[in-house]
Amino acid sequence: MHVDSAIRSRKSVRRFLSGHIPRPSIERILELSARAPSGNNVQPWHVHVLTGAAKQALCRDILEAAATQSDEHTPEYQYYPDQCFEPYSGRSREVGVDLDEALGIARGDLEARERQTLRNYLFFDAPVGLLISLDRRLNTGSYMDLGMFMQNIMLAARGQGFHTCAQAAFAWYHKIVRQHLPLPDDHILVCGIALGHEDRTAPENNFNTAREPIAGFTTFHGFDQ
Ligand SMILES: Cc1cc2nc3c(=O)[nH]c(=O)nc-3n(C[C@H](O)[C@H](O)[C@H](O)COP(=O)(O)O)c2cc1C
Repeated sequence: MHVDSAIRSRKSVRRFLSGHIPRPSIERILELSARAPSGNNVQPWHVHVLTGAAKQALCRDILEAAATQSDEHTPEYQYYPDQCFEPYSGRSREVGVDLDEALGIARGDLEARERQTLRNYLFFDAPVGLLISLDRRLNTGSYMDLGMFMQNIMLAARGQGFHTCAQAAFAWYHKIVRQHLPLPDDHILVCGIALGHEDRTAPENNFNTAREPIAGFTTFHGFDQ
């Protein structure tokens, strides 16, 4: 697959088919992804790969916590500002509205929206879930490295016909993850990634997310001479 096609066809898939993914396929994705650049080549990523009973047990416990005591769980790093603001809040709202519309969730139907949010903790039915952590003694720059590694996972997955969804939602439930996985105390759980084959019939996989045109985020200098 041409790199352009991998980039263009990547999207966040929120309903997967259940088909098994052989371990060598995942190893190939991870080996490629580890070619990501990182400051001074520190390669700060660590990945837990879950499938089968291990994934089910973790999902069961997180789902229970998310459904009954979500207030007691907070992430160890702050992804978003306390108060979002324009132009970011508008974009964020738009993707929420578009997802609700695709799913037929009526405005104000908080229960239906909550049910959809909770599907995060099933990895959206993907057969494989990845959990990515970072040594907390590193610094802000390593989050850039982690992002590049994660993007590589999502593109390398496309190269093998798989789809993904990045899932920061897991960062909230690091305490439960620690009960299931040997995540060292000095590691922050940064993000999950669902990995599998897209259910093409699912409405939540069939809406477009907009992007700003180049002029909205770029300033060119020295090109008119
Ligand atoms: C680091 C990161 C974390 C994300 N976390 C979640 C998540 O927890 N749940 C979810 O449904 N989508 C999550 N997303 C997906 C974004 O909503 C999505 O990338 C964005 O709306 C653009 O859509 P696209 O990925 O289909 O291009 C995350 C994306 C990124 C990059």
